[in-house]
Amino acid sequence: MNHVNVAFIGAGGLANAMHYPSLASFEDVEIVGICDLDETRRTETAKKFSVDRTFADYREMLEQTRPDAVYALMPPYHLFDIAMNVIEGGFPVFVEKPPAVTTDQARALGRRAEQMNVVTGVGFQRRYQPMMRRCYERTTQDGPVHQVVGSFYKHQEPADPHPYYRGAIDILRCDAIHVVDAVRYFCGSAPVRSVASEVRNLDAHYPVTFNALVHFENDAVGVMLLNWRSGRRFLNLEFHAKGACGFASIDGSASVWEKGDEEPVLQEQFNQESDEEYINQGFLAENRAFIDAVKSGEPPHNSISDAVISMDLADRIYASMINK
Ligand SMILES: NC(=O)c1ccc[n+]([C@@H]2O[C@H](COP(=O)([O-])OP(=O)(O)OC[C@H]3O[C@@H](n4cnc5c(N)ncnc54)[C@H](O)[C@@H]3O)[C@@H](O)[C@H]2O)c1
Repeated sequence: MNHVNVAFIGAGGLANAMHYPSLASFEDVEIVGICDLDETRRTETAKKFSVDRTFADYREMLEQTRPDAVYALMPPYHLFDIAMNVIEGGFPVFVEKPPAVTTDQARALGRRAEQMNVVTGVGFQRRYQPMMRRCYERTTQDGPVHQVVGSFYKHQEPADPHPYYRGAIDILRCDAIHVVDAVRYFCGSAPVRSVASEVRNLDAHYPVTFNALVHFENDAVGVMLLNWRSGRRFLNLEFHAKGACGFASIDGSASVWEKGDEEPVLQEQFNQESDEEYINQGFLAENRAFIDAVKSGEPPHNSISDAVISMDLADRIYASMINK
């Protein structure tokens, strides 16, 4: 397959900011259809990305355009039936994180995709962020990581109803899952040996802070510090290998130090790659990997089946509280 025809279900905010511009920039990709329930959104997105055909019903779009791959981008609690129907239609599918509301739902999607031999991808762009990758690769050039620390902080006042789709999904699985997944991935995606955690509501009526220590079967340790009741948004990853450490902030810079030297061996600014957020945040690379996977028929490392393992780790963080 040299050329990939892609159809989109969902023309929302993140899709317009990150996925449409990525796909529109690929010479070997054509966006052959856009479906959204909202007429204004589908029409404006089609105009912006010069797409001729729009639809209100995704089944009609799939029948009429017969795409090589589908992007289904909408809130997780709207996704299951659509993603399952797309998979059962035999179309490769990319979904945003989380791939489902529960691990069982994600597992059902991943299992069906494997049975149907359908390539899938999940939006875990931290795995692909160019600066993050260079920081990780420089840190591990002489040996693997033995410790990864991921911190993700946000400022949110307690809200009622729940701030994530009125409570259709929790903070850990919906949003903090980014760092659960990144720590697991950068620890080498080894199976989980043990988890110790503390999950607290503080002054909210739902959990807002999650601290976890995860020991993987390859002896790497992941530390996750996740707190939605903090002062502002930060997302940082630390990589530690024997004699080297790398620090990366998704909004700032990355640096690597070795063997106790005062001067870093690598120092980068966030926008060195590009000022375009869809590029410097890793969406372009993530989408390139998905399109290449569609062409080759080999799933990317961020398939739905792999995302199930991150969802399962989130479940274990709830189940492994020290002070139950
Ligand atoms: N990777 C990230 O960093 C990141 C950041 C923000 C959001 N997200 C995820 O991205 C996903 C989508 O985000 P968004 O901002 O584009 O969403 P959005 O809520 O702005 O838009 C979703 C769109 O899907 C449409 N839709 C819903 N059901 C439909 C159906 N059956 N048929 C056709 N259209 C339908 C809605 O009309 C809406 O326009 C969310 O799941 C969210 O979890 C990821």
